[in-house]
Amino acid sequence: MYTSKISGLGYYVPENIVTNDDLSKMMDTNDEWIQERTGIKERRHIKKGDGNSTSVMGVKAAKIALERAKLTKNDIDLIIFATLSPDMYFPGGGVRVQDMMDMSTIPALDVRNQCSGFVYSLSVADQFIKTGMYKNILVIGSENHSGGLDMTTRGRAVSVIFGDGAGAAVISRSESKDRGILSTHLHSEGAHAKELSLEGPSTEHWVPELIEENPKENIPYFPYMNGQFVFKNAVVRFSEVINEGLQANNLSATDIDMLIPHQANLRISQFVQKQFKLQDDKVYNNIQKYGNTTAASIPIALTEAWEEGKIKEGDLVVLAAFGSGFTWGSAIIRW
Ligand SMILES: CC(C)(COP(=O)(O)OP(=O)(O)OC[C@H]1O[C@@H](n2cnc3c(N)ncnc32)[C@H](O)[C@@H]1OP(=O)(O)O)[C@@H](O)C(=O)NCCC(=O)NCCS
Repeated sequence: MYTSKISGLGYYVPENIVTNDDLSKMMDTNDEWIQERTGIKERRHIKKGDGNSTSVMGVKAAKIALERAKLTKNDIDLIIFATLSPDMYFPGGGVRVQDMMDMSTIPALDVRNQCSGFVYSLSVADQFIKTGMYKNILVIGSENHSGGLDMTTRGRAVSVIFGDGAGAAVISRSESKDRGILSTHLHSEGAHAKELSLEGPSTEHWVPELIEENPKENIPYFPYMNGQFVFKNAVVRFSEVINEGLQANNLSATDIDMLIPHQANLRISQFVQKQFKLQDDKVYNNIQKYGNTTAASIPIALTEAWEEGKIKEGDLVVLAAFGSGFTWGSAIIRW
């Protein structure tokens, strides 16, 4: 059986910086509240007319990852695209990437697992590599949140948190037994689906119904989040799934060289850091600059950490995610 390794990483974020003060001009919020509760100072939003979309940003990140993997588009056997904000309701973003990158008719798979999307995608890629079916897989996490948020005071508890961006990784076959993706661990609990969700347009809330009802409150085509419930579940699940990954590999928290938590909220990351007694240089956070970019957050953070020289050969890197679904997962990687 083969092992899979991350052979190239890249990310792209739109140039347009939106600070907390910028948001306070659109809704009743302020820098102090946002920083204190979430750690976020600013985020990136696509600007109308800048040419970006979820797929376009994904392609920009993917091209960097490919170049760093020293591969071309012709070497890629499969595209896996994770997003909750595809350009179109259907088809998903994977086929758009295949077209925009002018790739041959390779398969394109879309993963709908929100904040856990990248870890789920990595796990799928890992299985295809391990069985020998594919050699190189392009995994992309990309989100265009800004186009779908309620940017009024009504939506402030959600809108201040999320940002736009994309991250990509090339997953390649490796012959090494002790390097690469050691294991991945995935979970879900659909009983809490509605606690962090966007209900319409969907077959439950289809367009004619939305137009007819046009409710003033709880508009189903804006995301809804039960913030405190999400927070409480997140801290428990993050810890559980990191422990599960460590135990599966006979490792302990002291073995972790770098933890890259999904950038949900700085307070959640700090809580997890404390639980595992990790020093500051063993956890990477960049939510301060980008907000929560959902499926893109782990590949963006992983790329930045690697670019900054914070991940070295032989390091034990742990990825962990939790989000809407609820879904959660971890990946244990020997770099
Ligand atoms: C969203 C979150 C920051 C809210 O913090 P909180 O301490 O739970 O705050 P609450 O929702 O209880 O709201 C407290 C007050 O702030 C207000 N408020 C909400 N959003 C606000 C904003 N952007 N600016 C100012 N005030 C705001 C509320 O209306 C409420 O006012 P009230 O007390 O007068 O009713 C927090 O619940 C959280 O981080 N949850 C996890 C979210 C997350 O990680 N999501 C991603 C998962 S992948």
